[in-house]
Amino acid sequence: GLKIVTIGGGSSYTPEIVEGMIKRKLDGSLPIEELYLVDIEEGKEKLEIVGNLARRMVEKAGADIKIHLTLDRRSALKDADFVTTQFRVGLLDARIRDEKIPLRYGLLGQETNGAGGFAKAQRTIPVILDICKDMEALCPAAWLINFTNPSGMVTEAVLKHTNIKVVGVCNVPYGIQALTAEAHKVDLADVFIEFAGLNHFVYGRKVYVKGIDKTTETLELFKRSDSFTMRNIPGLEWPFELVDALGVLPCPYHRYYYLKDIMLKHAEEEAENEGTRGEVVKRLEEQLFELYKDPDLNIKPPQLSERGGAHYSDVALNVIDGIYNDRKNIQTVNVRNNGTISDLSDEAAIECNCLIDKSGAHPINVGHLESSIRGLIQIMKVFEELTVEAAVTGDYGTALKALTINPLIGDSVKAKKVLDDIIKENKEYLPQY
Ligand code: NAD
Ligand code: G6P
Ligand code: MN
Ligand code: MN
Repeated sequence: GLKIVTIGGGSSYTPEIVEGMIKRKLDGSLPIEELYLVDIEEGKEKLEIVGNLARRMVEKAGADIKIHLTLDRRSALKDADFVTTQFRVGLLDARIRDEKIPLRYGLLGQETNGAGGFAKAQRTIPVILDICKDMEALCPAAWLINFTNPSGMVTEAVLKHTNIKVVGVCNVPYGIQALTAEAHKVDLADVFIEFAGLNHFVYGRKVYVKGIDKTTETLELFKRSDSFTMRNIPGLEWPFELVDALGVLPCPYHRYYYLKDIMLKHAEEEAENEGTRGEVVKRLEEQLFELYKDPDLNIKPPQLSERGGAHYSDVALNVIDGIYNDRKNIQTVNVRNNGTISDLSDEAAIECNCLIDKSGAHPINVGHLESSIRGLIQIMKVFEELTVEAAVTGDYGTALKALTINPLIGDSVKAKKVLDDIIKENKEYLPQY
């Protein structure tokens, strides 16, 4: 049987991954025997509540999965087969700071983009490298399925600095595929999209529906629609002329770049009114945990779909299924570039279509990118490379270079101000600085 360890088990998303595990245990595709939900002292209460809901879910479904709740990461990791990560260093308060610090300087603050994503990487990478050290000692053959954001950069840090087998995941490509299927009124399996780029910066270069190139039609369907987005990203209308000119499908996060001023203004207004997304999520999370406490609740409550991470468990468990069952199917994940996108360095993590089998994720060749998207992707990748390096070394100059070239900042004076605030206000989470 399989032993799965989920780090950050106290997350309000946990019922979703447990639902996915139950489904696959019952249909026989994944013989999961044990699930260890691991958290830390600050998350103890959440872990208890969500862990007990998970136990009720398993029992109600009649799935024989033993659920362990623990703060002892090392004992949980011993002989694990798969480790999934969904932790948030500094919890939502740190996310809210990431959203608010940049706003002081007229810059966009966002969970994974701009200075906010940089700050989250600085807090998270030291922790993931520690986890990998434990894995190297306790379960060196296990696969790490990383969800922790910024997922692309966290994956790159693991690829560059550890011996652990890692696949980085995100629900955005899956979400785009699902939205495309819905728009064309076909099944998910009838849609094939050639994804290439970076996490939260991925493009669909070609969209096929039942084997026919429907890229242009798909762009037409999306560009006038505010529904082409995720829960956490305001669905503002795309710049039509630009989308036509690009000729490739952007992802919802590209709005922050292609509609920079409008998205910033929107974020400023939101911060004034309902609060930043982190503040909204904090209220939502409180409501979710109130529901989770109900001893009669034994399913994933529908209110969880208000979070941006819908489908995340299918993405994670499809990867586990692909590896464990040697499926040789295609899934969009984050892996070492290794020449797949000719315009990026070999060592970089990229997000693209991969063949998944028991030896892991094998990227499908992309070659050179269209010049219209190549420039931005290259800048973003160098920003990410410098951000990972800064997170590992704590080098101030490297951090400053990273922030200065980020397209949402692009100014060294603002970059320095924002960096100084980030370092000061995250002191307890940045041992490397
Ligand atoms: P959350 O704030 O609920 O945090 C999850 C848990 O992590 C908490 O219970 C917390 O106590 C715990 N935690 C913090 N530091 C830890 C550590 N060092 N070791 C173990 N546990 C620790 O966060 P959330 O909203 O559930 O999101 C969790 C993470 O997953 C975030 O990083 C988020 O960005 C990411 N996420 C990614 C995707 C994706 O597409 N890749 C989708 C959804 C969420
Ligand atoms: C999407 C992204 C995730 C991100 C989430 C935020 O699903 O792919 O990487 O963490 O949205 O959602 P939230 O509800 O926390 O704002
Ligand atoms: Mn085993
Ligand atoms: Mn994501």
